[in-house]
Amino acid sequence: MLIDSHAHLELSEFDADREDVIQRAKENGVERIVNVGINLEDSRNAVAMAERYDNIYAAVGVHPHDAKSINETTYDSLRKLSESDRVVAYGEIGLDFFRNLSPKDLQIKRFGEQLELAGELGLPVIIHDREAHSETVEMLKGWKGRSGGVIHCFSGDYDMAVKCLDMGFYISIPGTITYKKSETLRDVVRRVPIDRLLVETDCPFLSPEPKRGKRNEPANVVYTARRIAQVKGLPFEDVERITSENTRNVFGLKMTL
Ligand code: NI
Repeated sequence: MLIDSHAHLELSEFDADREDVIQRAKENGVERIVNVGINLEDSRNAVAMAERYDNIYAAVGVHPHDAKSINETTYDSLRKLSESDRVVAYGEIGLDFFRNLSPKDLQIKRFGEQLELAGELGLPVIIHDREAHSETVEMLKGWKGRSGGVIHCFSGDYDMAVKCLDMGFYISIPGTITYKKSETLRDVVRRVPIDRLLVETDCPFLSPEPKRGKRNEPANVVYTARRIAQVKGLPFEDVERITSENTRNVFGLKMTL
């Protein structure tokens, strides 16, 4: 079995056929999914889904794009939401200097605050880093109450991967590993030990080949895992088993099914 460590099934892109998408994931051996919040309202929806489906877990937090949506009540609401036993992580949080949909200094401030909150709640973090590699590493280095976590949709090089691994983070590999130009990511996958890698879709975004350009969904994480197996020269079954174990470890998933 596989675990999709990062999905957004709560988004409206899945309103028309959410049940089918969840069913297809199961049929393709993707037995667990972590649904990740991007702002307060979306985190609520992610938790509601996780409470409805035994095979779905949730993370709560505010994405750097939405940093400017945080007000004086947001953290109390997130804290409350995190009391659900379906919440396994805090995120996604971090920095996005590619799109800069919230001002840079505000992103940094909110990222710091949310790292502190995650530490206080004892939750592992799910980190979003786009075109902000050195700033992200610096912030994580300075994070006191470290409760572990994962760098989602990893887009750095091997040097950055080593820095993250040294701090105890896992690295999550998205469908972009199947893209022709993603040689840097394949180099990371080749060199990072399999027991530190997770797989994810980030659906509805970033469909792997051969589904590129279409809406992504958890079933497609199989293509990503296959490519990892090929790049590392490992049997597919090992990639399935070990990345699932890693995901269980980092998020402390209770496997009661
Ligand atoms: Ni995401």
